[in-house]
Amino acid sequence: MSPEDRSGGLIIEADDAGIARALECLHAGLVVAFPTETVYGLGADAASAAGVAAIYRIKGRPLDHPLIVHIADADALGYWAEEHPRARRLVETFWPGPLTLVMRRHAQAPAHACAGHATIGLRCPSHPVARRLLAGFAATGGRGIAAPSANRFGRVSPTRAEHVRADLDGDVPLILDGGDAEIGLESTIIDLSTDRPRLLRPGAIAGSALAEVLGEPIGGAGSAAPRVPGSLAAHYAPGTPIELVHAGELADRVASLRKGGLRLAVWSREPCLANSVDWLAAPSDPQEYGRMLYDGLRRLDQLGVDRLLIEAVPAGEPWDAVRDRLARAATGSGAQEP
Ligand code: TXA
Ligand code: MG
Repeated sequence: MSPEDRSGGLIIEADDAGIARALECLHAGLVVAFPTETVYGLGADAASAAGVAAIYRIKGRPLDHPLIVHIADADALGYWAEEHPRARRLVETFWPGPLTLVMRRHAQAPAHACAGHATIGLRCPSHPVARRLLAGFAATGGRGIAAPSANRFGRVSPTRAEHVRADLDGDVPLILDGGDAEIGLESTIIDLSTDRPRLLRPGAIAGSALAEVLGEPIGGAGSAAPRVPGSLAAHYAPGTPIELVHAGELADRVASLRKGGLRLAVWSREPCLANSVDWLAAPSDPQEYGRMLYDGLRRLDQLGVDRLLIEAVPAGEPWDAVRDRLARAATGSGAQEP
């Protein structure tokens, strides 16, 4: 690796040569950033203690927070986890795709990525670049790629290669470019490690779709859920304080904060017509909203205003994942007082 590569956070095309370079890095115990259909991941060989340690160091992630291991196909499940009929049913329907299964870890599986937990998160992504990378890794003896989202701990997840460079510049030797993430929000996580399946993180695959395939109800993340990063109230936050406001209260809130001298940006479906307030149009379709959420937060964050006012999204399951990420972003940004 040349010094230029190390300092540049190099974005490279995900052609055969790019994939080959990424595989070299992975096998050498280094990290690479790569695209998935949800968000970009910061990957390392899940069986390499040094590689996994580099992920934690670069992200600034607490060492007791487990990572998701990405695998090439459902056949690789049996190496990492104790097989379970529920898992089989779900992967037949939803893999490859934006679903992570938390399962009991197999005794033979390396524990570096699990942060000491007896369980392991497993996902088989559908993005063509991720699939080629994982297939290439498996073909060269690799078992799985541990990868959290490629952002610093607690910050907004990256949905394009440029976001990764902006966040992790200088710390990542190589960023595979796979264009804009199609989904834009992290995978749905379901915990299959206990008697009753539980949803740990909402995502593009709805809880009701999982329940239908399993033929049984699934619980929400209860108080017994392991304390892991996706379950922290404050997460996915930009630097500017965020306030969530219902549509009907937006105009009054803008007026009162402006009276107090605050510079504002508003993200809502209806245009905000107040003078000198930056406005970004919010999609009214939940998939479209999910796709642009993190990029929107980054753009709003760069305006340098004092506060972001974001219109609360509708109730109902199609909005669960977006609502979850907005709530965490607002909590993490520290502007929840009305
Ligand atoms: O869409 C995604 O899942 C992306 C892409 C890169 O695949 N990855 C991602 O990773 O969001 P990360 O590290 O930012 O979030 C991983 C989440 C944690 O928040 C945690 O809730 C859950 O996975 N997780 C991983 N292993 C777990 C385990 N053993 N038990 C419970 N939760 C686990
Ligand atoms: Mg993350």
